[in-house]
Amino acid sequence: MYSGKLVRLRALETSDLENITKFYNTLELRRFLGPPLVRSREYMEEWIEQVAKWDPWKDGHLLMAIEERRIGEFLGIARFEDVRLPHNRAEIGISIYDPSKRGKGYGTDATLVTLWIGFNILGLNSIYLDTMEDNERSIHVYEKIGFKKVGILRETEYIDGSYKGLLIMDILRKEFQEKYPLNSILDFH
Ligand SMILES: CC(C)(COP(=O)(O)OP(=O)(O)OC[C@H]1O[C@@H](n2cnc3c(N)ncnc32)[C@H](O)[C@@H]1OP(=O)(O)O)[C@@H](O)C(=O)NCCC(=O)NCCS
Repeated sequence: MYSGKLVRLRALETSDLENITKFYNTLELRRFLGPPLVRSREYMEEWIEQVAKWDPWKDGHLLMAIEERRIGEFLGIARFEDVRLPHNRAEIGISIYDPSKRGKGYGTDATLVTLWIGFNILGLNSIYLDTMEDNERSIHVYEKIGFKKVGILRETEYIDGSYKGLLIMDILRKEFQEKYPLNSILDFH
């Protein structure tokens, strides 16, 4: 539904189940995202059904599939959490599931489209995210886009047998709008 230069963000469908389970239960992906507990197919099916019912303003969450714009291939997930009125703030998270699809510009484009939705559809004023303090690729992508480093929650994640810090980054509506004129992100055609 929301097309950027390389990706489209759309509703998550039950037909995405195969692609999600294929990559979700891999340590390679999950070690970036928090405690890597295994999830069954049934669990994921129920989760997709729940996601379909979320109302961001009421439930605080919105989750979308990221697909390759030209061929419609599933690439990963973009999500909003902690959508809070009247503060007009939310957290976002972006994941490109298949490692072979990373480093091709999809994550940057998906983050820009997600921010556009946050500021222009959800009416947010402030968007933040957290990422492992040693996730250099994601930090590079978010800084390039315009996120600012806010600080580190020290030793707050227990991953692979040791504690890691979470870097908090944020971007304000006025900063986004100054850097990206209204018609520069989405392709309406
Ligand atoms: C983080 C993530 C969303 C980025 O998406 P992506 O499609 O791989 O990123 P892009 O191809 O758009 O951009 C990658 C950029 O990082 C740079 N990069 C790659 N590896 C890097 C590293 N180790 N250190 C610093 N920069 C790095 C690339 O050069 C490129 O920068 P450029 O556009 O200035 O040339 C994706 O890699 C991902 O989903 N990773 C696993 C899950 C995850 O970490 N999610 C984020 C949790 S907040």
